Amino acid sequence: MNKSKVFPNLVDSHAHLDFDDFDEDRESVLERAQKTGVKLIINVGFDLESSLRSIGLAEKNSFIFAAVGIHPHEAGKAAGDYIQKLEEMAEHPKVVAIGEIGLDYFRDRSPRPVQKEVFQQQLRLAKKVNLPVVIHDRDAHDEVTQTLQNEGLPEAGGVMHCFSGDVVLAKKVLELGLYISIAGPVTYAKNIALGQVASMVPSGKLLIETDAPFLPPHHLRGKRNEPAYIRYTAEKVAAVRGKTWEHIGQLCLENTRELFRI
Ligand code: NI
Repeated sequence: MNKSKVFPNLVDSHAHLDFDDFDEDRESVLERAQKTGVKLIINVGFDLESSLRSIGLAEKNSFIFAAVGIHPHEAGKAAGDYIQKLEEMAEHPKVVAIGEIGLDYFRDRSPRPVQKEVFQQQLRLAKKVNLPVVIHDRDAHDEVTQTLQNEGLPEAGGVMHCFSGDVVLAKKVLELGLYISIAGPVTYAKNIALGQVASMVPSGKLLIETDAPFLPPHHLRGKRNEPAYIRYTAEKVAAVRGKTWEHIGQLCLENTRELFRI
């Protein structure tokens, strides 16, 4: 019988494949992603060097696009002219966002006032260059939402990546106009709150991501994460929404294209 085969569509809206965790086998990682059905990866910058490497990956691979930005961990080390450098990078045709930017009060690797200033400056840059923002918020929910309220979101919008709050925060974030991106922790049995969030995000605002090499899904904890494992997050999100993972994969692929204008 000639059963028509439906090829799944998946997407990884946030990965760090430029990290040296992938230096040994980056090509195989990309092959596995494509075999799993991943049609699009947004590779997200962490500092200036990582942003340049993200652009390099995007130049070499048609299905990879880049975000450029300074992660809050790196805010303290940002060079004086980093905004100018990011602005130049933002002109590249495969740069689709400013990110990741935000606040991290969990690890506090940069002084909080510096994190805040670098976050604000990059929000302003995103407005200037008319790109969406990829936002990192770890244990800084109030400060991040307040900063976004005060500064205003760029017209191009943005995403709260690796969402880590509850339904109350999710509602605030949605009111601000942001997309919500669900990562591997949704597969952890104890993470009831994130499952609830994954079930309530409106279809048009839902994204999925790996944040590879970080945050592997439940049964792969302790290992390096990679885009092929997005399948497990798609399955869990599908389960809590009463859909198939193929449906969630397709929906999130379309949403990612819409947000990043690809
Ligand atoms: Ni990240």
